Amino acid sequence: MGRLVAVSNRVADPRNLAAGGLAVALGEALKATGGMWFGWSGKIVEAAQGGTPGEGELHIQQAGNVTLATVDLCREDHDAYYQGYSNGVLWPVFHYRIDLADFDSGYLNIYRRVNQLFARKLAPLLRPDDVIWIHDYHLIPLASELRAMGCGQRMGFFLHIPLPPPLILAAIPQHEWLMRALFAYDLVGFQSQLDLEHFSRYVQSEAQAEPMGEYRFRAFHRTVRAQAFPIGIDVDEFAALGQCEESRETYEMMRGQYSSRRLLLGIDRLDYSKGLPQRLKAVRTLMAQYPENRRSATLIQIAAPSRETVDAYADLRRELEGLSGAINGEYGELDWMPVRYIHRTTARRRLPGLCRACRVALVTPLRDGMNLVAKEFVAAQDPDDPGVLVLSRFAGAAEQLREALLVNPYDINATAQAIQQALHMPLAERQSRHQKLLERIRAQDVHWWRREYLRILGETDGGVGG
Ligand code: G6P
Repeated sequence: MGRLVAVSNRVADPRNLAAGGLAVALGEALKATGGMWFGWSGKIVEAAQGGTPGEGELHIQQAGNVTLATVDLCREDHDAYYQGYSNGVLWPVFHYRIDLADFDSGYLNIYRRVNQLFARKLAPLLRPDDVIWIHDYHLIPLASELRAMGCGQRMGFFLHIPLPPPLILAAIPQHEWLMRALFAYDLVGFQSQLDLEHFSRYVQSEAQAEPMGEYRFRAFHRTVRAQAFPIGIDVDEFAALGQCEESRETYEMMRGQYSSRRLLLGIDRLDYSKGLPQRLKAVRTLMAQYPENRRSATLIQIAAPSRETVDAYADLRRELEGLSGAINGEYGELDWMPVRYIHRTTARRRLPGLCRACRVALVTPLRDGMNLVAKEFVAAQDPDDPGVLVLSRFAGAAEQLREALLVNPYDINATAQAIQQALHMPLAERQSRHQKLLERIRAQDVHWWRREYLRILGETDGGVGG
């Protein structure tokens, strides 16, 4: 196979990964193969007077065996492409939140313009036998732009977020253009079988695509292969991270501080798809209906700041501050608080220790492509005395992690009940559930995901007009 060129909006040094499912998984995958990682530099530059907007500077640096090639964006491009179209239209609609979408017609042109800019900057860096793997909703039309410039390399796309059912997708004014753009790829990957089913239903009903065998679809004079590849974690690497000093120190500190308490843990980006208000309400209901948990159970909720300039995120932040304050005010004691709400990013090196110190993880998104925190929590547990995973049935991970306690996060009472069950689950049941979950996350880990995706991409016909 040729060199791997991964492309995503967010690029990170694979030796120094922070938060966010995509960057962590892609960093782990690239560390194993080497290659190039291309995307936005994370920098916004003010457009020079009279300068061409969108013409970003290219930075190339070496990070171990991975070449990082990144492009700056000017303010106008960033605001309309990243905040506007990607996070103001695609993110909410793909997470089933049409109500939060801002269908400003001006965003689309700039979304296209930035994809064209990325194509122009990337094309000269490519070699004929490169395999190009493009990631996530920011870059759906990138392959069609590269093809228009004559790039005939094999190209795959992976969507890290859910694909909604056809009728929800159809709320996006440019849905046909977006879905047509997917047919410029040789392989389109989704997180779950459900996403694949939505794709199949959409292209058959809206684009008269003919299914050709199990995973192939023909429409717009092209054939595309589409399949589900649930993304995973590097189980051993995460467990090994648990041995580092920061992780052990975090574990000891949590156990010391909370020796007589049982800890519930939530680790999320502060995002409306994560179901955080519902989670806090479930904890309030837990305290109300099962008073034995007062003075005993504490929720540690880490909500990493995210996309703060998008209105819906600022609204959510205020709601969470109000709710956690209200719950602590109602139930807190001089020496105990039911909720520790932390609006900050936690260093990745501390996460295994934090996970291991907690009895229950609450991974209760309203909709999520996969959710790797669920898998990391399982990987970090002590198999002899493991914690319990409470998992939303609406997370992609629920298709695999069937031995978790699956909940409907909209049902606050039922979620509170599941937390109660998790807090009081006998050791033997905790062990047997954990063992099965661990087997599942090992069987389909991040290396399996990369290998399997690239194997199938290698089997596709490849190139233009396939
Ligand atoms: C999700 C998306 C990624 C994104 C990440 C962090 O995991 O699927 O594409 O990078 O969130 O969000 P941000 O907007 O900070 O890149």
